[in-house]
Amino acid sequence: MRILLFGKNGQLGSELCRSLLSLGPILAVDKDDLDLADSDSLKKFIIDSAPDVIINASAYTAVDRAESEPGLAYAINAIAPGMMARAAGDLDAVFIHFSTDYVFDGMKGSPYTEDDEPNPLNVYGRSKLEGEQLVMKAGGTALVFRTSWVYSLTGDSFLTKTLAWARQHETLRIVEDQVGSPTWARFLAGVTSALLARADHAPFRYFASRKGIYHLAGKGAVSRFEFTRQVLALDPRRTEQRCKEILPARTDEFPTPARRPLFSALDCSRFENTFGLFIADWKETLALALV
Ligand SMILES: NC(=O)c1ccc[n+]([C@@H]2O[C@H](COP(=O)([O-])OP(=O)(O)OC[C@H]3O[C@@H](n4cnc5c(N)ncnc54)[C@H](OP(=O)(O)O)[C@@H]3O)[C@@H](O)[C@H]2O)c1
Repeated sequence: MRILLFGKNGQLGSELCRSLLSLGPILAVDKDDLDLADSDSLKKFIIDSAPDVIINASAYTAVDRAESEPGLAYAINAIAPGMMARAAGDLDAVFIHFSTDYVFDGMKGSPYTEDDEPNPLNVYGRSKLEGEQLVMKAGGTALVFRTSWVYSLTGDSFLTKTLAWARQHETLRIVEDQVGSPTWARFLAGVTSALLARADHAPFRYFASRKGIYHLAGKGAVSRFEFTRQVLALDPRRTEQRCKEILPARTDEFPTPARRPLFSALDCSRFENTFGLFIADWKETLALALV
């Protein structure tokens, strides 16, 4: 199968470049190759590439900056995926897109399922929700995977920031009232590739009856405070840490331009039941990531 991948340099995209290698030829691009804000060029590029599968790992992910750049956030997170989905439909290609736990308001108090009503609290979440809606409205064979708290050891994620802070400061203050499902980018890429391998070179036929929105994140839920404790305990270069204590804090002690949902853990059972793939616990995955 011929695969077109957008966002090859991002946390998830760079992992997908590796994990998809055995599935067929990959055309992987990023902003330097094609600016997704240019929707005319985007459509032509997709049609000319004639892929069997389009994977969109690109996104405008600067949650706070999106509050002052809503036009750009909507162009990348809503208009571009909508265009990709329509072009995929024209080509009878499968479209795989990623969305976010930030489509929810965090008030539910237990893991969100796909049947829960979205109610985003910020521009980023609203732009991603509109992206989901445009993708599903396009009517092709599309899969939208809502994921959450994505980390890798190379990107600019909460995990890499935590490791850096622990090398700079003796005391860390970390919020304990934000709870979510941490997801290793490599795990997410691996599951996506395993899923495509199931399609056995006929992705359109395999996914046509399974299209829709799925939650796909590390299993379970944890606060940022507890996640940080685990990260520092598992850090293979613990001896370089200056940090001696981690103190719990509240979100409202660190005002940010964008409001965030306080509880946004995702229930991934629909994905597991539909595809027969096992989602690993966030803690086991973290231990593997930090080996
Ligand atoms: N990170 C998280 O915690 C998180 C949580 C929930 C859901 N998600 C979703 O998971 C997916 C993957 O996230 P990620 O963390 O891997 O994102 P990421 O590391 O920020 O990567 C996003 C990629 O999109 C590219 N991009 C941004 N603007 C572009 C434009 N105008 N034209 C072309 N490419 C552009 C970026 O290129 P540049 O680097 O050159 O700008 C980057 O390579 C996204 O759909 C995201 O919304 C992420």
